[in-house]
Amino acid sequence: MILVLFGPPGAGKGTQAAFLCKELNIPQIATGDIFRKHLKEGTELGKLARSYMNNGQLVPDEVVWDIVETRLAQDDCANGMLLDGFPRTVRQAELMLGWLDGQGRVLNAVLALEVPDEELVLRLSGRRTCRDCQATYHVAHNPPGEDGRCVRCGGEVIQREDDQEDTVRKRLATYHRDTSPVLAFFEERGYAHRIDGTGAIEDVTRRLRDALA
Ligand code: AP5
Ligand code: MG
Ligand code: ZN
Repeated sequence: MILVLFGPPGAGKGTQAAFLCKELNIPQIATGDIFRKHLKEGTELGKLARSYMNNGQLVPDEVVWDIVETRLAQDDCANGMLLDGFPRTVRQAELMLGWLDGQGRVLNAVLALEVPDEELVLRLSGRRTCRDCQATYHVAHNPPGEDGRCVRCGGEVIQREDDQEDTVRKRLATYHRDTSPVLAFFEERGYAHRIDGTGAIEDVTRRLRDALA
């Protein structure tokens, strides 16, 4: 199964990907997580990505595609994958569909989470992220363990640099300008399912499962 989990910053892509990938036994490919891993390791790519990420802008398509193409060719993607945070421009979507086509593979569905902007700002300002495994938490809706550490791996739980409110506003503007056209692109081609991303986390998971069935 090859899936794209689509949606604005804070829509719950990472949160829901964790459930879906476990159930479907496919890897989660999250471009933002890949960039943050490079950032943590201090690579050149990490430094480049950071300059865009902390301004709420998109990393250039060529840089993103280089990384995604390499990642998709790895063995664990043979039975499918879930893309989280990719594609984010129509160009990226075209590159991905072209690549799949060349491999004789098909995209099964694009699950698009819809959440109003004001709710997104509330979610992102309260979000906390595991420094080690990137698991996401929320101070009110989904707190980390009692010791304040990651429930999954015991890592340190921190606030992402791009979750400051002014950067969140810039990320939303970038989403509306550059990324929302990708949804229309997938709808025209019959891939997209719009999913209400509001309400409890488990209700959203149920809607995603229903859409897949
Ligand atoms: P990325 O890491 O992908 O960030 P994003 O798209 O902005 O999305 P988020 O990770 O912020 O949100 P999410 O939808 O995963 O929500 P989450 O589950 O955490 O990208 C970061 C940056 O990298 C980009 O800005 C860009 O610069 C660059 N980049 C990445 N990919 C790129 C690409 N393809 N091309 C170019 N540049 C790229 O949930 C958010 C919070 O809400 C959490 O606290 C969670 O606990 C809470 N929550 C979740 N669901 C609910 C619910 N139902 N109710 C209440 N709270 C909830
Ligand atoms: Mg995420
Ligand atoms: Zn962790």
